[in-house]
Amino acid sequence: MEIEVSNDVKNLAVDVLVINMFEGEKTSQDLANTYAIDRDGFKGKLGQTYLLQTYGQIPAQKILVVGCGKRDEFCENEVRTVVYKAVKKLQQMFAKTAAFDFEVGFDWGKFGTIGAMLADYAFDKYKSEKATRVNELTFGNVSEESVKAGKAFGNAMKFTRDLANEPAAYATPSKLAEIALNIEGLETKVYDKKETEEMGMGAFLAVSQGSVQPPKFIHMKYSCPNPKKKIAIIGKGICFDSGGMDLKPPSSMLTMRDDMSGAACVLGVMQALKEFNPQVEVHGIVAACENMASGSAYKPGDILTAKNGKTIEVDNTDAEGRLTLADALCYACELGVDEVIDIATLTGACVVALGSFVTGIMGNDEDMIHRIMQTAENVGEKYWQLPMFKEYFNSLKSDIADMKNTGSRQGGASIAGIFLQEFVKDVKWAHIDIAGTAFLEKPENEFIKGATGAGVRTLLSYIINS
Ligand code: BES
Ligand code: MN
Ligand code: ZN
Repeated sequence: MEIEVSNDVKNLAVDVLVINMFEGEKTSQDLANTYAIDRDGFKGKLGQTYLLQTYGQIPAQKILVVGCGKRDEFCENEVRTVVYKAVKKLQQMFAKTAAFDFEVGFDWGKFGTIGAMLADYAFDKYKSEKATRVNELTFGNVSEESVKAGKAFGNAMKFTRDLANEPAAYATPSKLAEIALNIEGLETKVYDKKETEEMGMGAFLAVSQGSVQPPKFIHMKYSCPNPKKKIAIIGKGICFDSGGMDLKPPSSMLTMRDDMSGAACVLGVMQALKEFNPQVEVHGIVAACENMASGSAYKPGDILTAKNGKTIEVDNTDAEGRLTLADALCYACELGVDEVIDIATLTGACVVALGSFVTGIMGNDEDMIHRIMQTAENVGEKYWQLPMFKEYFNSLKSDIADMKNTGSRQGGASIAGIFLQEFVKDVKWAHIDIAGTAFLEKPENEFIKGATGAGVRTLLSYIINS
């Protein structure tokens, strides 16, 4: 789908002219006012649509009126929602071209573009019959820059969703490494198994050892002269989570190709940075491997030594994400950055607590957590802070090692956070749990089933605005 900008959208000979209507107000088209409002009583409530034929009275063949609700309640996130709905409607109508003559009192280009690109998204690579798509949209009353920014966000989300939707047979640790190495404008180093051994990443390596796929530790760096800040983002990169010897039941294992959604998010954000040239140094880190059950797999009762020397008794091989993140956090803390953010499909407990449209966040710096949460709200993601009381560590106590990798099932999301904190040193740190939000089993809001690109908008926006 192409998105272009024009200052003459009213006069384009497109299939559909899309206009907006606020409740209690007239639209910019007399035809729409006569038929939609005066004759049929269309109210223009948020998300409602009204379609009419133009029979040659204007260059466009049809007019689609999109309700925007009350003008004073209409903000950027509503732009995204209504443009999404309009494009979905255009797809159902088999429209190929459309012009959007929205007049909403502000530059709606960025959020409109994101909404349109979300509506355009389908993972139909492996389908013989492709999804119905609109070929070309033209936006009026927007700036070129806002549409350009929207495209960078939209493309980053698509990049992440495509990667997370791919079967594990495709998105292997080696594939993630290859993708990272192919991103232009970054300095990227991929450490292989031997090098991670030399670095002392005993926790990450233990998780990887049951798989025939070799582990890859990926470090991407975006630099700029005189950075205002240095940030590391770490994505959980379990390319398939079978549970290991503590094998998951089939229904839980079915979607576990999504267990690298954090990694896919980090890759999506890193490849988008060049579009914005932020004055921030950004490190993108992924400890990529599979968690498999086999003759070489790590076992319950094993004792692992992480990069910082702390020892971990394996209580449950299915709590593998925190083990790989432990070594990645140690590595990130040695980079001399100001802030570390990890993003992970980490706990089923977070899904139970917050559901599938709210992401969990916790960390060691209230101010940083609040800034991330505020960013999330601005870009249309929902984040909720979970507690990190030190008492949560009690259930991680081990008789024979410094800690166990799992504790009580109750409060599981916070316990995972408390575990991760053991590997964070002298840095502001936030942990984002996207177990519920990264991958949907049924469509929700602007997302079809499957990968959502959770975290991409928030992390990209957070970095750009740092
Ligand atoms: N990858 C899972 C968490 C998960 C669950 C992600 C559901 C997406 C949807 C993680 O590795 C895991 O298995 N966690 C266990 C931890 C438990 C053994 C303490 C869980 O949440 O059950
Ligand atoms: Mn697991
Ligand atoms: Zn996992």
